[in-house]
Amino acid sequence: MLEITGHTRVFGILADPIHQVKAPQGLNRIMAERGVDGVMVPFHVASADLATVLTGLRAVKSFGGAIVTVPHKTAIVPLLDAVSDAARLVGAVNAVRREPDGRLVGEILDGAGFVAGLRAAGHDLRGRSAYLAGAGGAANAIAFALAEAGIARLTVHNRTAARVEDLFGRLRRLFPDLPLASGDPDPTGHDLVVNATSLGLRPDDPLPLDASRLAPGQRVAEIIMQPAETRLLREAAARGCRTHPGLPMLEGQLALMADFLGMVPPAR
Ligand code: ATR
Repeated sequence: MLEITGHTRVFGILADPIHQVKAPQGLNRIMAERGVDGVMVPFHVASADLATVLTGLRAVKSFGGAIVTVPHKTAIVPLLDAVSDAARLVGAVNAVRREPDGRLVGEILDGAGFVAGLRAAGHDLRGRSAYLAGAGGAANAIAFALAEAGIARLTVHNRTAARVEDLFGRLRRLFPDLPLASGDPDPTGHDLVVNATSLGLRPDDPLPLDASRLAPGQRVAEIIMQPAETRLLREAAARGCRTHPGLPMLEGQLALMADFLGMVPPAR
């Protein structure tokens, strides 16, 4: 970290609870590497206080923006001055930038970060078929990013089928030509298999899909960051699949977050 002076821009991460957040370490490292005079610190904010905090942050001229995480990602959308198309469609924001005039602009980078992580691991998605387990917030963001990355078809499987139809309704508006199917637990025949449910957080969780059907040639990606190796990833590796754990997905997103938040050194 650079020395903090009167010129230092302050960035925050809005969360409750706060102790588990990982983005500040990554973004402070990126700012140091880029020679940016800025610092990211935890903003522990309860849901009931979010609107008040945002009103205050609009007036803080040295505030550059914030990362937004649980439980604020959806609730923050109507409180911002503008959000991107992706954020509006997903209904969630995970990064907010403060413009020089004080306006707060929201973006969702979860899905783009996930795709960037896969690309960095050598997996180009164009023309591939994808199987997605889950239809919650994270799955919505990933589905939009996969569609944007040019996949050829998408199958979504979720415990609650109504959420899949809801996701498809929104996807069709932006990507009318993308073939969509609501799936069963069997991921056979898809190049990329993604777990975007919360199953795997606990060691005794059931698997999000039928891992016994996984076969060599398939890539299996996980959004769960802790534990780093879920039961799904272990089963996938044992069946000869390439695996992508959740942590590099955050890494893939950090540079996008830094760019969005304007973490660039001043022009000389
Ligand atoms: P997030 O924002 O992290 O995606 P979420 O919107 O609550 O969180 O979504 C959680 C996802 O995990 C959903 O797909 C959820 O399935 P439902 O839509 O049926 O709730 C899935 N999930 C969570 N617990 C599950 C369980 N015990 N069995 C199957 N799916 C589960």
